[in-house]
Amino acid sequence: MAFVQKFYRLIALVVLVTTGLPVGAVYQRSVPEGWSLHRRADSDVFLPLKFSLVQSNLDHLDAYLLDVADPRSPNYGKHWSQTKVAETFRPSKASVDAVHAWLAAENGISLHNIQLSRNGDAIHANVTVAEAERLLGAEYNVYRHGETGAERVGCHQGYTLPEHVAKHVDIVWPTVHFRNSAISRRDVSASSLLHVERDSGVTKRPITEAELEATGCDQAVTIDCLRDLYHFDYVPVATDKNTIGVAEFGPNVVLASDLALFFQMYAPERVGQVPTVISIEGGNNSIGSLGEATLDFDLVMGLLNATQEVRQYAVGNVQTEAPVDELLGAFDASFCALEGVEEEGLTDCGDKPIPNVISISYHFNPDFNDPTIVPVVSRQCTEIGKLSLTGITFVASSGDSGVSYGTGQHGCLVNGTLVNGNPVGTFVGQLPASCPYVTAVGATSVAANNTVDEPEVATTEFPSGGGFSNIFARPDWQEAQVSNYLATFAPDYAADIFNRSGRGYPDVAANGWPIVVAESGRFTLSGGTSASAPIFASVITSVNDARIAAGKSTVGWINPALYSEAFAHAFNDVTNGTNPGCQTEGFPAAPGWDPVTGLGTPNFPLLLAAFLALP
Ligand SMILES: *[C@@H]1O[C@H](CO)[C@@H](O)[C@H](O)[C@H]1NC(C)=O
Ligand SMILES: *[C@@H]1O[C@H](CO)[C@@H](O)[C@H](O)[C@H]1NC(C)=O
Ligand SMILES: *[C@@H]1O[C@H](CO)[C@@H](O)[C@H](O)[C@H]1NC(C)=O
Ligand SMILES: *[C@@H]1O[C@H](CO)[C@@H](O)[C@H](O)[C@H]1NC(C)=O
Ligand SMILES: *[C@@H]1O[C@H](CO)[C@@H](O)[C@H](O)[C@H]1NC(C)=O
Ligand SMILES: *[C@@H]1O[C@H](CO)[C@@H](O)[C@H](O)[C@H]1NC(C)=O
Ligand SMILES: *[C@@H]1O[C@H](CO)[C@@H](O)[C@H](O)[C@H]1NC(C)=O
Repeated sequence: MAFVQKFYRLIALVVLVTTGLPVGAVYQRSVPEGWSLHRRADSDVFLPLKFSLVQSNLDHLDAYLLDVADPRSPNYGKHWSQTKVAETFRPSKASVDAVHAWLAAENGISLHNIQLSRNGDAIHANVTVAEAERLLGAEYNVYRHGETGAERVGCHQGYTLPEHVAKHVDIVWPTVHFRNSAISRRDVSASSLLHVERDSGVTKRPITEAELEATGCDQAVTIDCLRDLYHFDYVPVATDKNTIGVAEFGPNVVLASDLALFFQMYAPERVGQVPTVISIEGGNNSIGSLGEATLDFDLVMGLLNATQEVRQYAVGNVQTEAPVDELLGAFDASFCALEGVEEEGLTDCGDKPIPNVISISYHFNPDFNDPTIVPVVSRQCTEIGKLSLTGITFVASSGDSGVSYGTGQHGCLVNGTLVNGNPVGTFVGQLPASCPYVTAVGATSVAANNTVDEPEVATTEFPSGGGFSNIFARPDWQEAQVSNYLATFAPDYAADIFNRSGRGYPDVAANGWPIVVAESGRFTLSGGTSASAPIFASVITSVNDARIAAGKSTVGWINPALYSEAFAHAFNDVTNGTNPGCQTEGFPAAPGWDPVTGLGTPNFPLLLAAFLALP
């Protein structure tokens, strides 16, 4: 029997090659940075393949979302159950049948090696490397990571699927997607698996307690400064029902002793508290780099009342292709793997508690039209939209490198290729900030010698990330504000410098420099849009508290509301500053929305009132 199958498959290969169907071909131009081609994969080794199937009803996702998130909708706030979401978007039977028939009937893969995932969103085929190569017209290699020595199997030169299969499949794993693409915005030690360069824009410096007392909010931003800037003083009443989480990827950790030092000074009721760790894929809060998590938890826990539990979603195993997948998979099993089947190393599938607000101060893939990136990030963004349907708010930092991509990397597109080092070229945004279902937060500062009563400016310590997506089209809910900016304030750059039809971001802003934190046993000035996101997430968490207390739903996806008429006065407009990159001044901040500071910083009482006025 085995022999017959093998023979049959060989025939299929010949057919594939001779008829030459390069349909659904996905190519990676080169071995991803940081990795090198080590050797050919052994042909007899099992390589479980996952075929992510095209989901149903995705063309209605925006309509479904607007129905619950547009403030003018009679169904505002009537979020969906997770079950309804799973049922609505489950791939069609036609897709399942087509891929199954291709594997089994056409290529002779035995039925017990083909399984439909529990949620019906993917087909797993347990095949050997040789079989995978025949099925996909690919050449599988083992790649080694230069710094960590980690090994991954993939086929960087691409793969093909026949047309009648390709239209039912989003992505095949593992293929061209094998690298770790998580990059912390902030300093990560050299031993880190994340393999990132330190952010050159944000240079932390220690500050003494005496200096802290003598300086204003232009020189050291304390919790009190933030409360004053945004009139953000809220005593929560629904902490038993309300939740907030902060995502930390890889070995980004916070020390209990640093939190205690910070809380003694700024939030005495919190002394002794630490975040509740929710481990995803083995993530933990043991040893690692302090910069990011310290900033996040000093701010979120410092700003929110001690009665509000704060969760740390510690995502481990960050060497997999796209670690944000691990976070999304932990919330939604349909995004994840078949239980018990190890692929992409994912084991935590839909089994983690979902917070009402999640703050993400990391960036992942660059936002440009690369055939290996677009399918992955589109699926991630769609998943963020689907999760938002259930009432979650995703808040993310907009980046610390202006109109270029990547902290410290400053990538710009030169002739369609991402080139690091801030060259002249096309602006490149980053995910997840440019996903329209994410609320992206840019960074501001109190200008030198100004007080909290004067308007903030865009940060100058580093250029706050912002611009226009090359992947996601501009949604209707921001059309009026963004087209006004383009018509009135946008610099006259050549047509290929930025994408005038893309989703504009950030959506909002909050202070990002120089933030007082307690790190490594002393007070330090830190920052980045990494600070702005958790500040804004804290604001939205307080809005949720008040709505829950009033018997209303959480706010979920807030972007359509933020840009609507009813919220026109809920922000402090920021009109001064730019976000340079790619050898340009980037964009200027301007009255109304701009791609540096979005709609502006929150005016908490007005924002709260606007959200409480909604059903
Ligand atoms: C794939 O099949 C082989 C041989 O039957 C088996 O040893 C291996 O555990 C299977 N892998 C998965 C992920 O099912
Ligand atoms: C925490 O995770 C790291 C990997 O990031 C691992 O090396 C370490 O053993 C883990 N520690 C604990 C206590 O689980
Ligand atoms: C925190 O909330 C409690 C009531 O739940 C209140 O008594 C206390 O004053 C609040 N703390 C701060 C710092 O606002
Ligand atoms: C980009 O392409 C143009 C035209 O094909 C060529 O003249 C130029 O040298 C290229 N630039 C780089 C940096 O490769
Ligand atoms: C913008 O802010 C800078 C300080 O960062 C200040 O010097 C300048 O005067 C401001 N410009 C305007 C137009 O307010
Ligand atoms: C701020 O005030 C200090 C001290 O008065 C002065 O030296 C400095 O030039 C001022 N900076 C700005 C930007 O006005
Ligand atoms: C510009 O953005 C749109 C999405 O709005 C996209 O379809 C298009 O391919 C982008 N153009 C370039 C050159 O990246």
